[in-house]
Amino acid sequence: MSRILVLNGPNLNLLGTRQPEVYGGTTLKMIEDACQQHAQAAGAIVTCFQSNHEGALIDAIHAAKGTQDGIVLNAGAYTHTSVALMDAIASVELPVIEVHLSNIHARERFRHHSYIAPVAIGQICGFGALGYNLAIDALVGHFKERSKA
Ligand code: DQA
Repeated sequence: MSRILVLNGPNLNLLGTRQPEVYGGTTLKMIEDACQQHAQAAGAIVTCFQSNHEGALIDAIHAAKGTQDGIVLNAGAYTHTSVALMDAIASVELPVIEVHLSNIHARERFRHHSYIAPVAIGQICGFGALGYNLAIDALVGHFKERSKA
């Protein structure tokens, strides 16, 4: 079974009540439960973690090396600001799928740039909570392709 860390950054603990017109009405707990179920069906085990603190997210990425096979990451606003998160991902050399509930490219200009994108294997955005399941599928598909090589 492959192991996937579902990592959520700042303000995502408020999902469900935070700007539902942008992010939908699904809570983080609902998303995490759906990830657990979806991953199980796809033959993977999910561990979930959320923090509002950049350093805690970096620690979680470091701890994933050797304990996880890949990461689904919604870095929230740190996506657009954090060289440190980008460096952490590059350092652990784990496949990362970047997720955003909203379509960041259709929003304010400052959200168009992602520090995560250059070190991720791909980005999924604009599909709301469904994006997390899509990212799990993408990661499991990536593991399968890699094992063939
Ligand atoms: C977000 C998009 C970011 O721009 C924003 O700062 C968030 C959430 C999303 O999931 O759509 O906190 O990552």
